[in-house]
Amino acid sequence: MAEALSSADYERLAEERLEPGPWAYLAGGSSDEWTLRENRAAFARWTFRPRVLCDVSDISTATTVLGTAVELPVVVAPVAYQQLYHPDGECATARAAAAAGVAMAVSTFSTRSHEEIAAAAPGIVQWCQLYVFQDRGVTREHLADAADAGCSAVVLTVDTPRLAQRERDLRVGFEIPSDLPLPYARAAIGTEAQNPADQFALLDASVSWRDLEWIAGEGRLPVVLKGIVTAEDAELAVEHGAAAIVVSNHGGRQLDGVPATLDALPEVVEAVAGRVEVYLDGGIRRGADVAKALALGARAVLAGRAPVFGLAAAGEDGVRHVLELLRDELALALCLLGCTSPDELTRAHVQRSAS
Ligand SMILES: Cc1cc2nc3c(=O)[nH]c(=O)nc-3n(C[C@H](O)[C@H](O)[C@H](O)COP(=O)(O)O)c2cc1C
Repeated sequence: MAEALSSADYERLAEERLEPGPWAYLAGGSSDEWTLRENRAAFARWTFRPRVLCDVSDISTATTVLGTAVELPVVVAPVAYQQLYHPDGECATARAAAAAGVAMAVSTFSTRSHEEIAAAAPGIVQWCQLYVFQDRGVTREHLADAADAGCSAVVLTVDTPRLAQRERDLRVGFEIPSDLPLPYARAAIGTEAQNPADQFALLDASVSWRDLEWIAGEGRLPVVLKGIVTAEDAELAVEHGAAAIVVSNHGGRQLDGVPATLDALPEVVEAVAGRVEVYLDGGIRRGADVAKALALGARAVLAGRAPVFGLAAAGEDGVRHVLELLRDELALALCLLGCTSPDELTRAHVQRSAS
């Protein structure tokens, strides 16, 4: 293939390079994959309302997330088991994120520790994605490690009390290699549970709003809640002290039938009413997608599969190029919309398409 020009090009390269198991796990959604498709389809339901003659000679994509300066309103989403996609795993992703000046959330099922990632990617803004194990000792150690390694937030994923039915994985018999390093999960898993559903069955499905205080106290870090799609839960999140909310349906991998995140975003933004930052993930493939999410009230987005397509296709360089493409596409979208920075995007820059 000629030079990759978009994240879709990296998606094709990743599919060519990966074995069927890791590809199914990366690309797939749950059940009928309706929500997976909706996440993408929703972006096509919103069209732009550009403004002209705005002096767009000087564009910046820079912004802040949780008060930290970043080069673009994109956070690398937590994606498990990254050594399946490249031998350097999360360290390669982190080096690319640091080079692009964006924050990265590191999965509980990471194949590298926060300390290794910090050493590999000096200056990286690292967030710790948390799943709570039934064995609270394992989770306590995870949080302590994250704080010691300089993580600046805990991203508690709240949409996964158990794993949904991932039929692509089941069809190809996807299993996690028993020697895959999992510094924050192996102590709970041992070497027995080798498919994702068995590993996720070790998480504590009893976690409730009451546990947020414990998590905030143990981690001594702001807590971001990832996986909220209703106004009711957004309100509870703010009441319980969440520092931010990620409107997420886990990339269409959990409850099939929940709406596209872009469709859920307005109700969450309205409920939160500016009290905490709201992010969105699900289906981000282009800078124009980022612009639409921001116009509808997101402070930033998280990108899950797109950077990992880059990782699988070309390691650190691939992730860096995907992030550069998102940056350049966002800068172009801002310019053509008549905005000089992400903060200038408003609800008036998009409209629900008539068709
Ligand atoms: C292969 C894969 C693994 C994932 N692992 C995790 C995880 O460990 N923790 C988590 O909170 N979300 C996880 N997610 C969900 C992502 O963080 C994010 O919500 C989703 O990928 C966003 O949709 P997108 O892939 O269309 O950008 C995973 C997603 C994928 C595709």
